[in-house]
Amino acid sequence: MHVYKQQITEAADFIRSRVSSIPEVALVLGSGSGGFVSQIDNAVRIPYSEVPNMRVSTVKGHDGSFIFGTIKGKPVMVMSGRLHMYEGYEPKEITFPIRIMQLLGVKVLVLTNAAGGVNTLYTEGCFMMLRDHINFTGRNPLIGPNDETLGTRFPDMSCVYDPELRAKARAIAEKQNIPLYEGVYMQFYGPSFETPAEIVMARTMGADAVGMSTVPEAIVARHAGMRVFALSTITNKAAGVSKNPLSHAEVIEVGQRVEAQFTNFLSDFIAGI
Ligand code: HPA
Repeated sequence: MHVYKQQITEAADFIRSRVSSIPEVALVLGSGSGGFVSQIDNAVRIPYSEVPNMRVSTVKGHDGSFIFGTIKGKPVMVMSGRLHMYEGYEPKEITFPIRIMQLLGVKVLVLTNAAGGVNTLYTEGCFMMLRDHINFTGRNPLIGPNDETLGTRFPDMSCVYDPELRAKARAIAEKQNIPLYEGVYMQFYGPSFETPAEIVMARTMGADAVGMSTVPEAIVARHAGMRVFALSTITNKAAGVSKNPLSHAEVIEVGQRVEAQFTNFLSDFIAGI
């Protein structure tokens, strides 16, 4: 067995020993999504630091635990806090938890993040579900020897974000009267925010939003054969779109301002999967 597969297996076995059943749906929460966590019923928390071979998040506003529980009765496995490439982690390290989910038997992955609005229609606090992405990191989590038991060498990426799940999301947003756009997310490596020139480039290349996460997780989840949905909270206009300088504090603050909308939308969405 490849070393990596062995490490994932150890981690998955550990988690199985701590929870009574494994949900089919998993959710990754980005910066400042603490409000959603309080909605999880019957929560069993497993800190990343206890999971064999797992790295821990170093970012303020990012917790670091798996939480197993239910949302409106629907069993779900939640990652409260994620790992980022800009923390210095390898793409394979940050997608390690997605591989754990794969071995546990998770079928649907819901990814969330905070992003900057490149599309000039987007205002602070609106939401965008991903129709597609541009991997602008120069890295790929599948580089290296391919373990065929985990997925194929050259996985198709022509439809990463599940159209049926997007249709469901559209219906819920309409019912809840939430501003939900659909667009292309471009991932930069970070941790510096983009320059105005880079945002012009991103727009020219077809991006509607920019951020520093999500793409490696989505790639690995598709390699693993999961259905994927991803949602960005547009916490700010991207560099140069507004005159204001960008800050992590603003990202967190706007995230908190729309927390109730985010939580209502996401809990109905998860319950309906
Ligand atoms: N750029 C990159 N990542 C982000 C941004 C941004 O403007 N806002 C929130 N995360």
